[in-house]
Amino acid sequence: MDTTYSESVDCKQWKKDAMNLAIKNNIFGDEPLIMVYNLDHFRALAKESNDRFNGIQTMAVKSNPVMSLLKEAIKSGLGAEVASFGELKIAELAGFTPDKIIYDSPIKTIQELEYAINLGVVINVDNFQEMDRVVEIVEKLDEKKKSTLVIGIRVNPQVQAGKYADLSTGVPTSKFGIGLDDSRERIISYYTQYNWMRGVHLHVGSQGFEMYQTSDAVVKVMSLVKEINGLTNNQITHVNVGGGLSVNFDTEQDKPTFTDYSTHLKERIPELFDGSFTLISEFGRSYWAKCGVVISQVEYAKKSGGRDIAVVHAGANLYIRTIYQHPLWKLRVTVFDSTGVYQDGKDGASVMDLAGPCCFAADLLVKERLLPTINKGDYVMVHDSGAYFYSSYSHYNLRLAPPIFAVESVDGKTYDSIKQIKKGETIEQKIAFFS
Ligand SMILES: Cc1ncc(COP(=O)(O)O)c(C=O)c1O
Repeated sequence: MDTTYSESVDCKQWKKDAMNLAIKNNIFGDEPLIMVYNLDHFRALAKESNDRFNGIQTMAVKSNPVMSLLKEAIKSGLGAEVASFGELKIAELAGFTPDKIIYDSPIKTIQELEYAINLGVVINVDNFQEMDRVVEIVEKLDEKKKSTLVIGIRVNPQVQAGKYADLSTGVPTSKFGIGLDDSRERIISYYTQYNWMRGVHLHVGSQGFEMYQTSDAVVKVMSLVKEINGLTNNQITHVNVGGGLSVNFDTEQDKPTFTDYSTHLKERIPELFDGSFTLISEFGRSYWAKCGVVISQVEYAKKSGGRDIAVVHAGANLYIRTIYQHPLWKLRVTVFDSTGVYQDGKDGASVMDLAGPCCFAADLLVKERLLPTINKGDYVMVHDSGAYFYSSYSHYNLRLAPPIFAVESVDGKTYDSIKQIKKGETIEQKIAFFS
């Protein structure tokens, strides 16, 4: 039995308010599955990271490419880290300025590189073949344009994996970037040859890293930066430390915080904070995960082989990344009855599965967990759902992506309205994908 979260966890008041507002506004009358974001929480996190790190703070668009939330990020002073041409285009459309767009894709065509270089976004080159493409494009530009570019190499520091091997991008054999131990001299030769190479980038992984593991990698790359800057009259001006601040999926608390991480980095690598460099960051999960919840109505409550099973609309359609990480990665849930009252299990509980809606057996949002009695028409809230889940939405079984709502308080405490910020997907849109 899964005893990690052995009950329906209690949660912050804004989530209970959101639940009740959704019921009051009859949102579930039309939609059995919704997402809700707390904009106050996101704004506070963005402010904290902007206050603590100097330079350019970006949000990883892959973690949450919802247009109105990208616009919210712009209002909060963040830039955009984009990992594909599609993400670059949506960032441009949302209104991020090119100097605050970081183009990190591991696969960029010549046309995409030409577009990005002309636009003037910050570019991190993934491999030597891409480097040669970039050299060919940039060397044709005039000196004035060259002097505005911030282009560098994504350096793979070749360090150990974090808790999740699948999310560790800085291991010796990683598909990302250029291995520092493998190719230090060749990396240096590009910087000494091309004075428009002003940036350097690393990102060792996402979720499951201790702060010291990430900073070990930064320290390793900074030794390269010092060597290059010694050879080139301080050519590297922009140091991008990536994202990867882990999120606490176990409780309601934001931990570690941006303050914790910036303090830790400052202690180990003070030159990142003393004005010697423009420091770039690319956090995703730590901005968004804890600001968003998913709420599903319970469509059916049934029993099989003695096991209670509640069938919900959220499963592998939304949580494909975690469902394939069972039992390593678990999500906390809270049960509400059909009138929106939080259920603590004192009136009855049993070991049950929350079955996702997809047609394969492994699609279980929660497996063998002690939860309060759940009846048809009740609600299940899934916590820490604001990052990566909507962006990984699966077309499998043609299940429609849910609408998204937002709450924000008037006084920092009370949430008395809920607004729709994205419509749910329509059957026509879904069929168009396959047509
Ligand atoms: C290059 C790069 N930067 C930033 C991020 C964001 O990581 P996180 O959401 O863990 O902060 C990722 C995530 O995969 C990434 O690949």
